[in-house]
Amino acid sequence: MARFIDELKRTHRCGDLRAADEGQEVVLFGWVASYRDHGGCVFVDLRDRDGITQIVFDPELSGHGDTPKAAYQLADSVRTEWVIGVRGVVKSRGANKNPKLATGDIEVLAIEATVFNKSDTPPFEIADEIDTGEEKRLQYRYLDLRRAPLQKTLRVRHKINQIVRRSFDDNGFLELETPYMVKYTPGGARNFLVPSRVQAGKFYALAESPQLFKQLFMVAGFDRYFQIVKCFRDEALRLDRQPEFTQIDVEMSFVSQDDVFMVIEKMIFAVWKEVLGIDLHDKYPSGRFPQMPFAESMDKYGNDKPDLRFEMPHADLTDVVIEHGGGGVPFLQAIAEKFTGGSYRRDLPAEIVKALRIPAEHAQKLSRTEIDKLEDFVKGMGAKGLARAKIDGQGNWTQSPLAKMITPAMREAINARVGAVEGDLLFFQFGKASVVQTVLANLRVHMAKRLGLIPESGHGGRFEFLWVVNPPLFEYDEETKGWVAAHHAFTRPHDACVGLLDTDPGLVLCHRYDLVLNGFEIGGGSIRLHDPAVQAKVFAALGIPDEEARQKFGFLLDALRFGAPPHGGIAIGMDRLAMLLSGAESLRDVIAFPKTQKGTDLVTDAPNTVDAAQLRELHVRVVEPAAT
Ligand code: AMO
Repeated sequence: MARFIDELKRTHRCGDLRAADEGQEVVLFGWVASYRDHGGCVFVDLRDRDGITQIVFDPELSGHGDTPKAAYQLADSVRTEWVIGVRGVVKSRGANKNPKLATGDIEVLAIEATVFNKSDTPPFEIADEIDTGEEKRLQYRYLDLRRAPLQKTLRVRHKINQIVRRSFDDNGFLELETPYMVKYTPGGARNFLVPSRVQAGKFYALAESPQLFKQLFMVAGFDRYFQIVKCFRDEALRLDRQPEFTQIDVEMSFVSQDDVFMVIEKMIFAVWKEVLGIDLHDKYPSGRFPQMPFAESMDKYGNDKPDLRFEMPHADLTDVVIEHGGGGVPFLQAIAEKFTGGSYRRDLPAEIVKALRIPAEHAQKLSRTEIDKLEDFVKGMGAKGLARAKIDGQGNWTQSPLAKMITPAMREAINARVGAVEGDLLFFQFGKASVVQTVLANLRVHMAKRLGLIPESGHGGRFEFLWVVNPPLFEYDEETKGWVAAHHAFTRPHDACVGLLDTDPGLVLCHRYDLVLNGFEIGGGSIRLHDPAVQAKVFAALGIPDEEARQKFGFLLDALRFGAPPHGGIAIGMDRLAMLLSGAESLRDVIAFPKTQKGTDLVTDAPNTVDAAQLRELHVRVVEPAAT
């Protein structure tokens, strides 16, 4: 029988011991974080998930026979990352306390020790701060995960899971599971496909979310459902996107939009309190997050996920430009002419003109060369350039290509619209709405980082939550010249807009909502359409004939005909939540085994090739990509 583990059970973890434990005999297990030989004594920093304890191996330790000598010899041979067990006595460090360690008041004098396992030399140091490239860290993720910052992050995830479960259980939700292997349905994100061996030529899709099944749970009468669930989407990866990610998924019957919000607000308040020790009531005394209409968010910030840790809103100048017939500036004239005789319609793919005002106190920090360089930044996003103007004491524009052309009347009107004063810097974008919005939205955040209004990464201790509400139900698709569902075809339009479904689909607003935190969309959902008559009108507006609707969504349409209750829900992106809570820069920092930009799992090297027999069994043939 082995002495350690079988006889000598672990008594403490490496972060546990304090001055009050002095004199106790303890057994610790862990990894050798470092070792030093000081004048015949070996000092080992022993690490486990809870911390580090200094162990002293002193061969002269009296009163314990030859055991300390054997332990010393063993300690003299250990190397970093070996796994060892130690029996010893807790002793005060006296004047040599280490204030940086939670256990820094004490050390453990080793009496007996064992080596459970040796370790190869690790490819990088297991330390809090390392500058090893991410690729190497991901390849040896199990070693990376030994580091305290990642141990901490994964504990945060554990905590979020527990709080979420408790919060929903307390509020009458049932945690129910839904299938991952589902029927492929068009729309939404691109799916991963799984070939069926049993049914030749047929495929499952990996669920991009439990959406349809959670609606079926409502039809089945479960009333309140939640699930912490993996979702799969074959999308272009970004820092805030992974091909498999986790949602906190929720669906409720007999609720309004606001009822859904309140459940989520409660859950988020609990998470912030228990994970960060922050009472969000200090900032949101009513327990509610603010709400902003989608249209206002687009107008002021150029997207539907504004970072509200700073202001710097956009100003829409389109109507000013139209009113002044372009105000003497040729490319603005071209935009204005497109509207001559017509009204300016926000719902149509329009050309727009917007400005971003950098207030004088910030503008003075920017050199001309630096401002010139912003041209490259915006061109990377599809902009043609970045027109600008500096405001002088008389409200004239300087350092501006527009200054010579613009009529004084339009210049004054623009100054008034943006609230320009001496020293301010204005940036302009005009042209296709989607490009203008994206460019100015990103420029706003870029400038805020440059000017120190928000940190380059992390939350800077500030959390600005926002519900973005009432977006349009449809988006105009310029390729097909038709309307497409902005979210999905089962989102409920506002009752007041139902009449517009036939006449003016672009103006129909709906009960869709996103929860935004510091410029990231951390959740989204909607109240669903449960009324077959309105559903039929939505399909008509989308140009989807009955048969096609049946073919695509038949099972849901069937279910909705059997007494579907009014229902709605939301899904919170768990990984994004964890990322923002912990101030991490990328989802990869808060996922134990994430995928790279190319979708590779570097630990196991997935995806990989499989042999021909396996493919035959699955009735799949690989078409080699054409040589490029
Ligand atoms: P949606 O598609 O908006 O809604 O997704 C909900 C939330 O999930 C997170 N998210 C992601 N996180 C990491 N990587 C990704 N690739 C990724 N894609 C989405 C975001 C997002 O806000 N079924 C609906 C919800 C509903 O209507 O109830 C849905 O999935 O934080």
